[in-house]
Amino acid sequence: MYWEALILVAISTVVYLFVVRRWSERKYRYPPGPRQLPLIGNLLDMAKFNHVTMRKFARQYGEIYMMTVMGQKIFVVTDIELAWDALIRKGNIFAGRPKLFIYEALQPKGGAIVFGDYGPRWKLLRKITHSALRMFGSGVQNLEEKVQREVCEMCGYFRELQGFPFYPKKRLALGVTNVIFSCLFDTHFSTEDEHLEEFQRLNEECMRLLGTGALLEVFPFMKYLPLSIHKRLKSCYDLKEKLLWPFFQEHKHTYKEGVIRDITDALITAKHQAEMEDSRVRGMLNENLIMETLGDLAVAGTDTTTEFLTWSLLYLASYPDIQTKIHQQLDDVIGRDRLPCFQDRSSLPYLEATISEIIRHSSFTNVSVPHRVRSNTTLGNHDIPENSLVFVDLRAIHHDPKHWKEPDAFDPTRFLDVEAGLLQRFKFEFPPDSSQPDLEPPVDPIPRAVLTASPYKLSVTERQ
Ligand code: HEM
Repeated sequence: MYWEALILVAISTVVYLFVVRRWSERKYRYPPGPRQLPLIGNLLDMAKFNHVTMRKFARQYGEIYMMTVMGQKIFVVTDIELAWDALIRKGNIFAGRPKLFIYEALQPKGGAIVFGDYGPRWKLLRKITHSALRMFGSGVQNLEEKVQREVCEMCGYFRELQGFPFYPKKRLALGVTNVIFSCLFDTHFSTEDEHLEEFQRLNEECMRLLGTGALLEVFPFMKYLPLSIHKRLKSCYDLKEKLLWPFFQEHKHTYKEGVIRDITDALITAKHQAEMEDSRVRGMLNENLIMETLGDLAVAGTDTTTEFLTWSLLYLASYPDIQTKIHQQLDDVIGRDRLPCFQDRSSLPYLEATISEIIRHSSFTNVSVPHRVRSNTTLGNHDIPENSLVFVDLRAIHHDPKHWKEPDAFDPTRFLDVEAGLLQRFKFEFPPDSSQPDLEPPVDPIPRAVLTASPYKLSVTERQ
């Protein structure tokens, strides 16, 4: 009897709070969204939240929808103009990051660029990272050599397979990791080097943990249970320290002012310059943050680029006519005596258009990193309260029939001005925004690589 009464009181309280909350929030203009259950909100929807459900919700609810999980409001933006509003026009309001247990476990000494929250320290870190990438990027030839060397090695590996069917992702990941490491630390590994394997393991584990770790946010009590995820997070952190720290220390000792061997040197230089320009920022960034930033660049750059290359091979194999056209253009413009280089990009509009179309059509990075709203604001006609989480559904934007003709068709020519045969770089144009003084303009992180115009053909072979 006692338990029954207690359960009844608990249920009535939950229902009462739910009704009161809904009632008090009536004055806000929230966007529509899937039905919320008392207390847990859309927890069950979130449990099966993937590109299929996201597509369904985008079609059902339109340009923005709202969900809640245990009281936390989550907004998903599916429209380019609203995304532009959030990320650019009101970028400083939407630039926060949530304080997540998983982020803190992976970067216990302070979040760097990807996981760090908005504030003076994050702004400074982002500013010096942009300067460092620009500093390093201005020696594009340096980067080009690294990419070309890796491309040659990779093609050599593919050639040795003599047409035997293979799954390329692992080899592509090794190549990309090598390029990223050589940009960050001016180092080159052989494919058998354990650093490469270990870094790939770290990368895959980080991605898996970021996915499964969401449960710890939803059920905070789980943080205190002796679950295996804690051990995995600790080993992930230890592995990152073991891999990156020695490189950083070595750079610190061999650093020479005015000599930029790689991004680590450029970051150290950019930090010194920022501290000389403004004495108030002295001491704001410590060694750990610089190392975590290098870790961010390594992890953020490797997974995305490997995914892109893997999808590219799949598309080229699936659309042999497009592959033939690209080869034709490479043969016409470059011939077969040398490798393509960055300067050739403007002479290869069809290849460039295919790259854009692969990114659009596959939308392999289908959703943004979560943003935390720093103060009450609006998006379109909707109220967005402080501390809400906002995701941008990139796939929905890339497949929005309002902007793309036959969005599900794979057609590189949609990026071409067919008459002039030129690449149309920007599909969407928005007026420049002057209300955004404190965010740096976005940088193109690393120029993209292309495969050599050798007389090879990619094809799909049915699995036996
Ligand atoms: C095709 C390749 C890539 C794709 C599709 C991609 C996609 C993305 C996306 C969707 C975000 C989240 C933006 C947000 O909503 O906050 C992001 C952030 C980021 N990416 Fe990439 N990325 C790529 C390559 C790279 C590379 C090569 C690097 C570095 C070497 C890199 C470094 C970063 C960093 C540091 C952030 C965090 C930026 C911030 O919070 O201000 N990415 N990327």
